[in-house]
Amino acid sequence: MTMNTDEIVANNFTDENIGYEIRYDHLYKIIIIGDSGVGKTSLLSKYIKGVFPSSPLPTIAIEFATKIIQIKEGGFIKAQIWDTAGQEKYKSITSHHYRKAVGGLIVYDITKRTSFDNVLQWLSDLKNNADKGCICALVGNKIDLVEKNHRFREVSEDEGKLLAKKYEMLFYETSALNNQSVNDAFEDLLQKIYIERRKITIIEKDKNNNVINLKTKGNIIKNNINICC
Ligand code: GTP
Repeated sequence: MTMNTDEIVANNFTDENIGYEIRYDHLYKIIIIGDSGVGKTSLLSKYIKGVFPSSPLPTIAIEFATKIIQIKEGGFIKAQIWDTAGQEKYKSITSHHYRKAVGGLIVYDITKRTSFDNVLQWLSDLKNNADKGCICALVGNKIDLVEKNHRFREVSEDEGKLLAKKYEMLFYETSALNNQSVNDAFEDLLQKIYIERRKITIIEKDKNNNVINLKTKGNIIKNNINICC
């Protein structure tokens, strides 16, 4: 499906798919990535529907859901959130859908070390395929398991924080099961995206309508941008 996710050039949309009109100011495409089983689908379901799925099946390729929320600064945002399959076999399909994502949630399971060890690979994939100004949040999920028994923890909070700081990501430890910090992870990310993108005042496009430069106050902040879908 072709999506218009270029919120920079469009404003004040009206959603015609839900029976009544809701106006929103910005449309942001967010992508959720991370190893299989870390809880991506569960986090999305908890955020969008308020429901923790009882026995989610592994995601096949990619699915998305939308939600309109009001952020503190920036008005109404329509978040189009894409849940990807963590399984390696779907990677070539899912990375294709990273295009034009302006935000990414990279999820690991704090009770599973390997999922944390793979975070940098996920980040690299995202940076290579998403919008060049893509803002990321690092999310360590399943904190409820650690609260039950601290021995389950395989990744310390400090390690998560340090990695997030190094790569300029927001950081949260969440539980999709207990609804811990789930809203904060999504909505702080949306707020940060708004703040960062507000700084962009000039967009230069090539003859094929691809964004090639983003400028703020006359300075190029991202150049030779290659957005190819
Ligand atoms: P893929 O679709 O294969 O990429 O997996 P996923 O990352 O979407 O994980 P999913 O949401 O399917 O969850 C995998 C398993 O972890 C399921 O059994 C969930 O019930 C469980 N799970 C997800 N989030 C949490 C959480 O916060 N706490 C606990 N205890 N279990 C969770």
